[in-house]
Amino acid sequence: MRIILIGLGNVGKNFVKLLLNRQKDLMDNFGLSPRIVAVVDSKGASRNPRGLDFNGILKIKEEMGSVGKDPLFGEENIIALDIIREVEAEVVIEASSTELVTGEPAMSHIENSIKMGKHVISTNKGPLALALPALIELAEYNQVMLRFSGTVGGGTPILDFGRKCLTTEKIVSLKGILNGTTNYILSKMDFEGTSFEEALKFAQNLGYAEAEPSTDIDGIDTACKLVILANWVLKRRVTLKDVKITGIRQITRKDLREANNKKGTIKLIGSISENIKVEPLTVLRSDPMCVNGTLNAVTFSSLTSGDQTIIGRGAGGMETASSILRDLINIRNNISGRERF
Ligand SMILES: NC(=O)c1ccc[n+]([C@@H]2O[C@H](COP(=O)([O-])OP(=O)(O)OC[C@H]3O[C@@H](n4cnc5c(N)ncnc54)[C@H](OP(=O)(O)O)[C@@H]3O)[C@@H](O)[C@H]2O)c1
Repeated sequence: MRIILIGLGNVGKNFVKLLLNRQKDLMDNFGLSPRIVAVVDSKGASRNPRGLDFNGILKIKEEMGSVGKDPLFGEENIIALDIIREVEAEVVIEASSTELVTGEPAMSHIENSIKMGKHVISTNKGPLALALPALIELAEYNQVMLRFSGTVGGGTPILDFGRKCLTTEKIVSLKGILNGTTNYILSKMDFEGTSFEEALKFAQNLGYAEAEPSTDIDGIDTACKLVILANWVLKRRVTLKDVKITGIRQITRKDLREANNKKGTIKLIGSISENIKVEPLTVLRSDPMCVNGTLNAVTFSSLTSGDQTIIGRGAGGMETASSILRDLINIRNNISGRERF
């Protein structure tokens, strides 16, 4: 399978490492022989129709800063759209930086790949949060697959659980903790009595929170994930503007003490029922969804089977790389008729 990889940061590099370490296993167990025929970062690209050497990609990125500097196959300053247009491949993996106003440049990467008949795997939530209904329609029209299981729950297959495992259920609502950064901050405030500002500093020092943390703490990241869940699992045609969002900046130790007195704690909860909301809520400690640290948890409520909760690590470069592999195998199985999903 020929792959164009856009973005060689934490996720992209871990994906290449995963391919490097699992080549034999992928062939033996899945009949999958992935070839990266082009890789693009913000400063250039490297391409070889026979497939680039996985070790070579990592070494050049590490030593030279950009794959465009590859002495044999590199081109500096070429952009992803040119590569998508010029390079023959079955799958484009979009793992570039997220932008939530226009979704660019990832929006154009995804749209153009689809229009050129290439399947797409995106770990980038930006274009999906802004235009998932239109992108799904575009992919269906062009008869290609658009997959994005790493965008919700990282390596934990929350989207697959809701859509595949609960396929015969009528899911009426769902709610969950979908952002590890805010869960870490609230857990720290809860267990150690730190203020919001102190807990945020700890999260930043540990690399759980960005220097500019608003996407996480203002609930926008959780809202993006709700949009993806609503479209993919509940078949609701919604985008980011349909979500009512409140973050955790205003939460104090007093709020947590009050929640503790009711045998609960405060969590940033994303929920989809009649409305789609992100808000800090008191959750009972006995609720299976009440996980701590950077963990994520989502409870699906269905008419026949009641509540079912899936828990796991929400993000991380290797976890997300593993979700790309899951999507790749899913696409490959769909193409070969082994799977219909
Ligand atoms: N890290 C996680 O745990 C995680 C989990 C789920 C989803 N995601 C999403 O997955 C995506 C990648 O995450 P990451 O952690 O790998 O981010 P990252 O470390 O910041 O890497 C981003 C990569 O995108 C490249 N890039 C930026 N603009 C580009 C452009 N115009 N064309 C081509 N490449 C471009 C960057 O190039 P340079 O190397 O030249 O700067 C870099 O290689 C993001 O959208 C993120 O939100 C990440």
